[in-house]
Amino acid sequence: MNNMRHMMNPLDFSVSELEALFDVANDIEKNMEAYSHKCDGKLLATCFYEPSTRTRLSFETAMLRLGGKCLGFADASNSSAAKGESVADTIRVISCFADICAMRHPKEGAPMVAAANSEIPVINAGDGGHQHPTQTLTDLLTIRSLHGKLGDFTIGLCGDLKFGRTVHSLINALTRYEGINFIFVSPKELRVPDYITEMLNNKGIKYEEVIKLEEVMPKLDFLYMTRVQKERFFNEEDYIRLRNFYILDEAKMTLAKEKMHILHPLPRVNEIAVEIDKDPRAAYFKQVQYGLYVRMALILTLLNMTDAHMNEGLLK
Ligand code: CP
Repeated sequence: MNNMRHMMNPLDFSVSELEALFDVANDIEKNMEAYSHKCDGKLLATCFYEPSTRTRLSFETAMLRLGGKCLGFADASNSSAAKGESVADTIRVISCFADICAMRHPKEGAPMVAAANSEIPVINAGDGGHQHPTQTLTDLLTIRSLHGKLGDFTIGLCGDLKFGRTVHSLINALTRYEGINFIFVSPKELRVPDYITEMLNNKGIKYEEVIKLEEVMPKLDFLYMTRVQKERFFNEEDYIRLRNFYILDEAKMTLAKEKMHILHPLPRVNEIAVEIDKDPRAAYFKQVQYGLYVRMALILTLLNMTDAHMNEGLLK
């Protein structure tokens, strides 16, 4: 494919390219039916070496809603990875079958190795504790849709800021927009990694780090809750000690702004009480829906099949 691009990191796309992607996603939201044959005859491979519900199923739904078809594996033990096949060889094989591939892998950088050896666009669907770019696209689209723009708000990121890859990706992506105040809420053991705070310091972006959520709740326009990442802990004792450090409940919500939005990449464990789901400020299931629209828009973009690409092709 000429001009082949991958999605490894949201920063691979300029701010204006992301705006165009989000415009397509918002158009899909309004006119889903108009997109139902855009990818007729196209195949998406989902190669998931780590568990997933949302990301894998939303990619597959996205391709099916675009008229294409899907193949792949949801468990590496059912693939030749179990026999020792490398990611580089696997993607060479997948390139013979499919038009585009979404890959999740527990090893940081594995989707980048795939992209370097691929004949088809590769999408990083989460690599270890590193990046989760399509969750970030989902988060950015959700914020843009709820707030009207990407900028001029205060966001609190709460929970496991050390191991949560969605948080790392999102902070990175938000640094390109103006007027965003970051408040990091975590126990000491799960603070945002130094490389993130160094990056913020180097860019002159201010942030606060606190332990108590109640202290900052009244300031927030967005509260981004995260689960404590059990699978990335080195010992179970620490996980058990920290897993219920934050539980967002009705009492804490009385401190929040009337228009604050609660986001969560999901899955949720205990960190948001189920009673909050009926609060109009709970936006995390809406966020899942935006994840579908943005993945549809991303597939079209990487396959050069948006209306803008098509019109460009006609003019040539
Ligand atoms: N948010 C997210 O990545 O969910 P899954 O692990 O279920 O894909």
